[in-house]
Amino acid sequence: MGQRVLITGGLGFIGSNLAHELVRRGDRVTILDAMLEPMGFNLANLDGIRDRVTLITGDVRDREAVEKAVKDQDVIYACAGQVSHLDSMTDPWTDIDINIRGNLTVLEACRKLNDRARIIYAGTRGQIGKLVRRPCDETHPDNPTDIYGADKWAAEKYHLIYHTTYGMKTCSLRINNTYGPRHQMKHGKYGILNYFIRLCFFGQPIKVFTPGDQLRDYNYISDVVRAMLLADSDKADGEIFLLGSGEPVSLLEIAKKIVAAAKQRNLEARYELVPWPGERKTIEVGDFYVSFDKFAKTFSWKPQVGIDEGLRLTFDFYTAHRDKYIV
Ligand SMILES: NC(=O)c1ccc[n+]([C@@H]2O[C@H](COP(=O)([O-])OP(=O)(O)OC[C@H]3O[C@@H](n4cnc5c(N)ncnc54)[C@H](O)[C@@H]3O)[C@@H](O)[C@H]2O)c1
Repeated sequence: MGQRVLITGGLGFIGSNLAHELVRRGDRVTILDAMLEPMGFNLANLDGIRDRVTLITGDVRDREAVEKAVKDQDVIYACAGQVSHLDSMTDPWTDIDINIRGNLTVLEACRKLNDRARIIYAGTRGQIGKLVRRPCDETHPDNPTDIYGADKWAAEKYHLIYHTTYGMKTCSLRINNTYGPRHQMKHGKYGILNYFIRLCFFGQPIKVFTPGDQLRDYNYISDVVRAMLLADSDKADGEIFLLGSGEPVSLLEIAKKIVAAAKQRNLEARYELVPWPGERKTIEVGDFYVSFDKFAKTFSWKPQVGIDEGLRLTFDFYTAHRDKYIV
């Protein structure tokens, strides 16, 4: 395809998987990542493509760095973010700084220096909060329950304002719970499926908050990457799209599936039901699953990897690359 593509946060889970696919199809990829702890960056995420991407160590809050990075890009994927719901509550200032100011810095740099670039924002289902009807679609009211959700929501508004006001090519993909290779395995603040898998590698119990019956839908990373590539289209400009799997499953059911998959690999794995910690309970949204009809109809997209296959592929990846992710 030969496009110039910038991925902010491209050393993290979603950005790096996207980078692999873009390189595979012949795009020229630049990554801007600040490598901030405890976030999901990992240089090993570029294994296999390291010599074919330009890596800039820089922060999306740094105007100068961002202005240099956005120049001449055809497409910009705005993936850099603080992703922990819990950390957004204990340190709201950092969340505002990265998730709001960081995105605005990218938008302003593009407005000044490259207003023809298409900017695809990695939004989140967390912007919606507790559902008043299920499955939710893009018309569902937004009532985020935590600072992360509110800040991601505000940043999405900025992206859309730059479309309506300046005619820039922006859109938001509200990404659902995503799991798979190249996700950080350091902690369980976000990316719970991957964290459950980590626990299995150490023979530690998966703790499911009782009764674990909240329904969620989970997308395997390759389906999300495919959606992000499709969003590089004038059909996406000015739009919000929800992604989902169409397969709601309870957290307890997921824990059982992960234990079963681990046991097939001779790992000592088990789950246990434990009471909810207060700080998690207050921001919990209950059953959450979406209709992805709008994206499906616009782009003929549907998820291709079901939960059982996705878990198998995820176990395979971390078994093969354990030393770089699970230490
Ligand atoms: N993983 C999911 O399930 C999910 C779901 C919905 C939305 N999202 C969104 O997708 C995006 C990527 O999430 P992820 O799961 O890949 O997270 P991640 O933590 O794996 O990656 C985020 C990357 O952003 C970088 N980063 C953070 N702050 C930065 C800054 N100020 N400047 C430059 N780089 C910075 C980090 O170093 C990291 O490499 C986030 O914006 C997140 O809100 C993720």
